[in-house]
Amino acid sequence: MTAIHCLNGPNLNLLGTREPGIYGAATLADIERTLQAQAARLDIALTFRQTNHEGELVTFVQEAGAAGAGVLLNAAAYTHTSIALRDAIAGTGVIAVEIHLSNVHAREEFRHVSRIAPVCAGVISGLGPYSYVAGLDALAHLLRERRPSAS
Ligand code: DQA
Repeated sequence: MTAIHCLNGPNLNLLGTREPGIYGAATLADIERTLQAQAARLDIALTFRQTNHEGELVTFVQEAGAAGAGVLLNAAAYTHTSIALRDAIAGTGVIAVEIHLSNVHAREEFRHVSRIAPVCAGVISGLGPYSYVAGLDALAHLLRERRPSAS
């Protein structure tokens, strides 16, 4: 079975109350429920995790790599700063898709830079919680394309 780890970075545990004008009303638990339903439809084993700590996010990427899973990654603010995270994606060779709820390119300039985009297969930004669903679909497609024997 295709495995995907959806990894979430700092402050995403606050979704629902955090700047709702930017991030909307859905909580991370709401997003996880929607994503698990989509994963079941696609026959994907989905692991969903969140951390506020950079090193722990690096460990999560390494664990996904060791498990042979693809990575759906909302690295939140670490997107814009973390060379360690970039190195973890490159070093493990995981297939990763970068996602964001908000359109980072319509926001402050510091959000226009992604340290991880160059080592990700693609980027989805600005679709709200649907960014997660679109990212899961895209990643499932990529993983199946690369491993046609996987079901
Ligand atoms: C975010 C965008 C980031 O710039 C920000 O730091 C976040 C959330 C998003 O999902 O829109 O924490 O990744």
